[in-house]
Amino acid sequence: MNLKGKIVKLRAIEEQDQELLLTMINDPEIERLVGGYSFPVSYKQQMDWFNKTSNDSTNIRLIIETEADGAIGFANIVNIDWKNRSAFHGIKIANKQFRARGIGTDTVMTVMKYCFEELNLNRLDGSIIEYNEPSQKLYIEKCGWKIEGIKRQSVFKNNSFHNELLVSILRSEYEQLRIENKYWNE
Ligand SMILES: CC(C)(COP(=O)(O)OP(=O)(O)OC[C@H]1O[C@@H](n2cnc3c(N)ncnc32)[C@H](O)[C@@H]1OP(=O)(O)O)[C@@H](O)C(=O)NCCC(=O)NCCS
Repeated sequence: MNLKGKIVKLRAIEEQDQELLLTMINDPEIERLVGGYSFPVSYKQQMDWFNKTSNDSTNIRLIIETEADGAIGFANIVNIDWKNRSAFHGIKIANKQFRARGIGTDTVMTVMKYCFEELNLNRLDGSIIEYNEPSQKLYIEKCGWKIEGIKRQSVFKNNSFHNELLVSILRSEYEQLRIENKYWNE
């Protein structure tokens, strides 16, 4: 089942998405903003990753698509722990021209709706480098996530160590947001 937001469709990754994923993983600006890191990735490595990675019961990887612009980003729900009912969620929108247009908010809202209302999870985790202001705005201000800890100097980028904010949202907080926030009712 594809996940439908107000403006995004979140769907499984297809072979033709590999160029987009390769562009994102090799983009120095995105590398600076995400908590993880990667070495330069070749087309062959990308295809190998695609061929051995598929959605399974613990990892869901999705392409963000809009009707107007097609495939523009990537979101995941990974390390799903069915006993403790938690998972980790991350997001990347490939190009600056598609950012600050509500696509991130719609994606995170759609991911939360799916995780809490369909997968019956109780908690979602994320991590944000301290200087990533758009990401903090997105998760904390727009989508109701909470900072629950700071991993001090855990990320080394651009010749210095940076703190990482550990963020999360609980199902009860999402349900409250659903009541108070008009997002899905507008
Ligand atoms: C973080 C990211 C997913 C946000 O997606 P987005 O589509 O721009 O998010 P939205 O348009 O829904 O914006 C969410 C809020 O952040 C604000 N915002 C977005 N880009 C911003 C920027 N460059 N500077 C300041 N605020 C910004 C928006 O204004 C909005 O708040 P508002 O509605 O009150 O104005 C996107 O910037 C991105 O992919 N960045 C690169 C990868 C990344 O950082 N991933 C997350 C790692 S934790």
